[in-house]
Amino acid sequence: MEKIVILTGAGISAESGLGTFRDEGGLWAQHRIEDVATPEGFARNPALVHGFYNARRGQAAKAQPNAAHQALARLQKNWPGEVILVTQNVDGLHEAGGAEPVIHMHGTLAGALCGACGHRWASPPEMEVGEPCPACQQPTARPDVVWFGEMPYFMDEIYDHLIEATLFASIGTSGQVYPAAGFVQEARAVGAKTVELNLEPSAGGSIFDEVHLGPASEVVPRWVDTLLAGNGAR
Ligand code: APR
Repeated sequence: MEKIVILTGAGISAESGLGTFRDEGGLWAQHRIEDVATPEGFARNPALVHGFYNARRGQAAKAQPNAAHQALARLQKNWPGEVILVTQNVDGLHEAGGAEPVIHMHGTLAGALCGACGHRWASPPEMEVGEPCPACQQPTARPDVVWFGEMPYFMDEIYDHLIEATLFASIGTSGQVYPAAGFVQEARAVGAKTVELNLEPSAGGSIFDEVHLGPASEVVPRWVDTLLAGNGAR
């Protein structure tokens, strides 16, 4: 039975009202990555970084999953084989749309991490500078989000899935940030069919076997319905 591995990016949450990073007017047009998405930026100005993630946490809490999130949950439920959902996104919209499990390789806005002892807990809606860690009491709480220069989470597990993939789909990502941008090559190397669903061709667009262009809320449900119909899913 086909094993499907899916990678999603900010584009799948765009129609839920959450900003992407590299589109016109995106988050990296409003903030410098080195100021708000690096350990050095956090050390230099923790208030700025907490402000950035508090704002995104607040927006994400108000956002609703869209038809693309719901379609992937439907695929996970009805596909007779494994469907592994890996996301670069830190919002909880895949889970809100019914997907489970979801592998958050860049962490989550809902999580807090202690920079001193590594303890993890559910983040408050707003995190303050010097927030004490519930475990070691040190004032070293940070968002549990993977910053540039840090190692993404669950990489061994993700590569174990990729080498077994028979179908790899990349949805709503510009394919500009590694290691996620290299997953399509790993999938190709093991002979998986590769599909891109995006508003416009990504950096690696030309290497996909199949490309479906358009808004995720339209192209993803159509793609899922075709997969499930073609497979006589239960
Ligand atoms: N439907 C489908 N795709 C869309 C939509 C939409 N409605 N709107 C935008 N897109 C596409 C854009 O064309 C673009 O290719 O989503 C992609 C978003 O790309 P980025 O903004 O670069 O976001 P992403 O690829 O997720 O960034 C990867 O970079 O900054 C880091 O950690 C951050 O996880 C993030 C990583």
